[in-house]
Amino acid sequence: MPALEVRGITKRFGRLTAVDNVSFAIEKGRITGFIGPNGAGKTTTMRIAATLELPDEGDVLLDGVSVLDDPRGARAKLGFMPDSYGAYPSTTLWEYLDFFARAYDLAGDVRRRRVEEVLEFTSLSALREKEMNTLSKGLKQRLCLAKTLLHDPSILILDEPAAGLDPRARVELRELVRALAGMGKAILVSSHILTELAEMCDGIAVIEAGQIKATGSVGDVTRGIQSAVPVYVRVLEGADRLERTLHELPGIERVRREGDGVVFEHAGSPESLSGVLAALVGAGLRPVEFTPRAMGLEEVFLSLTQGKMQ
Ligand SMILES: Nc1ncnc2c1ncn2[C@@H]1O[C@H](COP(=O)(O)OP(=O)(O)OP(=O)(O)O)[C@@H](O)[C@H]1O
Ligand SMILES: [Mg+2]
Repeated sequence: MPALEVRGITKRFGRLTAVDNVSFAIEKGRITGFIGPNGAGKTTTMRIAATLELPDEGDVLLDGVSVLDDPRGARAKLGFMPDSYGAYPSTTLWEYLDFFARAYDLAGDVRRRRVEEVLEFTSLSALREKEMNTLSKGLKQRLCLAKTLLHDPSILILDEPAAGLDPRARVELRELVRALAGMGKAILVSSHILTELAEMCDGIAVIEAGQIKATGSVGDVTRGIQSAVPVYVRVLEGADRLERTLHELPGIERVRREGDGVVFEHAGSPESLSGVLAALVGAGLRPVEFTPRAMGLEEVFLSLTQGKMQ
């Protein structure tokens, strides 16, 4: 059973269909990136999964618990970090966390311990008496993550947690999210910083104009849309002979020189690609580089979405 399963959800706002029959699932201990252009329906999907919005059709199951049939039960399993939140004036970090811990029915020693633990986990312990509305954006995001973890949920939905963070703060956040996945939590994270998602995620779901365009590992999604993979080869000597040899091999297209080496495009299986390498060695060429160039997440995003606005 997946940790979180989105089952055919549709959400309309007036005449606009913000989310259109969206289905995907995420697994325990894995980080799934939710990618799509502005207005694609990411926040709406996440808010439905977090019981903050009702779908017109479909359902979301959290560890098998339906957000429609048992929203309270679903909330106990889930931590939702919204894309923005308000800071209360004259409220310290500790007071803020204590307030939310009470909202989650945590009491006595358990509550005190959980507040300590999330402060510790997000390295905010030293700032516990600071007023939250004096925090910088990065620290505010960390406080929001701390709040999200109070009831130790097994599923985390993080809506653009890295937005507005400087590079160091992003790396720190990524480490925290990785650590949470390491604890076995299932994590859905949306972001526009695609390279960052690629480094952090085990899988992705791409959404545009309310519809899912692709799901799977970054590699699967990339291979799905990329029919031919460019491969760069460089040999110890004899780039001309390399070029001629490649022209004669089957399953190879668009052979061209690039710097000291040669680039060709290959549309076959990994087995046939390894056959190409064997053929080059067999022809007496001595390869020192043989590098398939996978598409980056940025290219995947651009090729799957057309920049449709709605
Ligand atoms: N409460 C609402 N009332 C009317 N329209 C809404 C409402 N919430 C969202 N929408 C519309 O639904 C569409 C999807 O919005 P959503 O916020 O889910 O997109 P998103 O993928 O999160 O975008 P972004 O990357 O900008 O955060 C948009 O066209 C948005 O204007
Ligand atoms: Mg959004």
